[in-house]
Amino acid sequence: MPVSKVTNISKKEFCKNFGIEEIDLVDLGIFNENDFKELEEVFGYLKGSKRLSHLVNGIPYLISHFFELLAIADQIISNQLKDIKKYSTDQKIKLKDRYPISDYIIKASIISGFKPKNILEIGTYYGWGTASIKAASPKSTVYTMNPKENENANNPINENDIGKIYRKKNLDAKQIWADSTKYDYKKLPEIDVTYIDGNHEHDFVYSDLVNTSKITKKAIVLDDYIPSKDSPRGDVRAYGEWNKSVVSAVDSFLNKNGKLFKYAYWIEETPICVLIK
Ligand SMILES: C[S@@+](CC[C@H](N)C(=O)[O-])C[C@H]1O[C@@H](n2cnc3c(N)ncnc32)[C@H](O)[C@@H]1O
Repeated sequence: MPVSKVTNISKKEFCKNFGIEEIDLVDLGIFNENDFKELEEVFGYLKGSKRLSHLVNGIPYLISHFFELLAIADQIISNQLKDIKKYSTDQKIKLKDRYPISDYIIKASIISGFKPKNILEIGTYYGWGTASIKAASPKSTVYTMNPKENENANNPINENDIGKIYRKKNLDAKQIWADSTKYDYKKLPEIDVTYIDGNHEHDFVYSDLVNTSKITKKAIVLDDYIPSKDSPRGDVRAYGEWNKSVVSAVDSFLNKNGKLFKYAYWIEETPICVLIK
């Protein structure tokens, strides 16, 4: 039966239905307290002088987008509050359960559950996702794609930093230097699972779905799919425009291409959407 829209499913039910078992990347020695600190510095709540310079640098944007920002003030405040709370270094919470390590664990466990031979990740960034995916599926070949030049991307990053985490951890991945919208996907072998986490604007996500649905055999996993600002999103800090554009790209793609998939789920309490063939 084709699927024309994404339905909600609990994490527990999804894992039960598709035989997904949690792979504890902390137990495997992939993530430790230092990684958590590093993740906090890259993605976490900025403190002290870093926070101050972030606020000062944001003033021109605040002035030019004042009315747009005013309209979503409640969202911004709730994001900020969640920001402070979720990047807790509370030692009582096991490291594997602390966001964002918990988030990498669930994504990598889902991907591994499909027993993939070949995996493609769109959007390498520092390589935390790549490292998690490879560690959870050590026998798989992991391809990860990022353009070298990406200052216009929503997560710009210096070329030398792209993939530095999986390299530092001696985890093998095939780095593809390319813009996902321009890449010739015929160069790749058949891919079992694709993980889409590149540019989150609508047209990029839509293009990634069009291209990868042709070469993906089992499942496409997308990051940052949160149906609405009130949807339970677990420990994910912020909700914003990038979530809306991912949702609208997936929804419009499925509307036209639902026959390609048997199931389409958003997993509650996570930012994960899975399209299954
Ligand atoms: C959200 S980050 C990826 C995070 C990573 N997947 C992880 O789990 O740690 C998005 C990445 O996508 C990259 N990117 C942006 N536009 C892209 C494109 N057109 N093709 C491939 N990657 C792109 C950005 O440079 C950035 O490194």
